[in-house]
Amino acid sequence: MITTNQFLNDAARNLISKFRRREAESPLLFAKRLIEPDLWQENVLLSDAKQLILNCSRQTGKSTITAFLASHTAIFTPQSLVLLVCPSERQSGELLRKIKSILAKTPGIDYSRDAVLQVELGNGSRILALPSAEANLRGFSAPSMVVIDEASRCDDGLFYSLKPMMALGNGKLILLSSPFGRRGFFYETWINGENWERFTVKATDCERITPEFLESEKNSMPEFVFRQEYFCEFTDSDTQIFPSELIENSINPTLKAVAW
Ligand SMILES: Nc1ncnc2c1ncn2[C@@H]1O[C@H](COP(=O)(O)OP(=O)(O)OP(=O)(O)O)[C@@H](O)[C@H]1O
Ligand SMILES: [Mg+2]
Repeated sequence: MITTNQFLNDAARNLISKFRRREAESPLLFAKRLIEPDLWQENVLLSDAKQLILNCSRQTGKSTITAFLASHTAIFTPQSLVLLVCPSERQSGELLRKIKSILAKTPGIDYSRDAVLQVELGNGSRILALPSAEANLRGFSAPSMVVIDEASRCDDGLFYSLKPMMALGNGKLILLSSPFGRRGFFYETWINGENWERFTVKATDCERITPEFLESEKNSMPEFVFRQEYFCEFTDSDTQIFPSELIENSINPTLKAVAW
């Protein structure tokens, strides 16, 4: 004999599992339970690309939307490995904190809450937060997702040690940052990278960033910094003697090095 409580519990469980099945197929549906994504964020969630690069203004929500993608992968791909890399341990821990808060608001998810720099889910998935020191990344194999946040400030060695690891699996690689000079793998990938889906969002395209805030920021920093931080421009520092463009144009690729 089924009691009314049992009946209601079963009905609620069925409803959650039906909804969960739909969320499994759609990171957008998964995110919409908790936030109303901006249009560009929706496109990030809907993207099928294996390599995404987000060149976005500060505070537009690039870490947030990537945290939803990473959580979705860990929840719906059992035994998956998700790596979060930032220039410092504190920053990668901060990204993991965003993910933990998504997991905490997702009913029926069993995960470890104690460690600051890693989360293990009941389905065997792991999310690890790592600093960008190159040595820390060797030894992982076939991650389902690698997120490099503040990528313009991470070491080049890190990126080049990651690439072979990604080639072996079917994982997704996401670079996100505001620019930091015309140098490094984030700049190179944005300008020349093949098979990358590119997203860019200026501060003025984000309605959460007010004109008043932008005006006060503009008055508080050098112009080249402001254009990098809020307008996605790869600018030269005003202390650089030769503009990068001049240096790039003066390099002749047909010349070969000569041994003395
Ligand atoms: N779609 C959204 N709706 C409401 N709030 C959002 C949305 N996306 C992001 N936010 C909020 O905007 C703020 C900035 O988000 P986030 O930290 O992801 O930005 P960011 O681009 O990574 O910033 P930074 O460059 O400083 O690292 C956070 O408070 C976040 O919760
Ligand atoms: Mg961020």
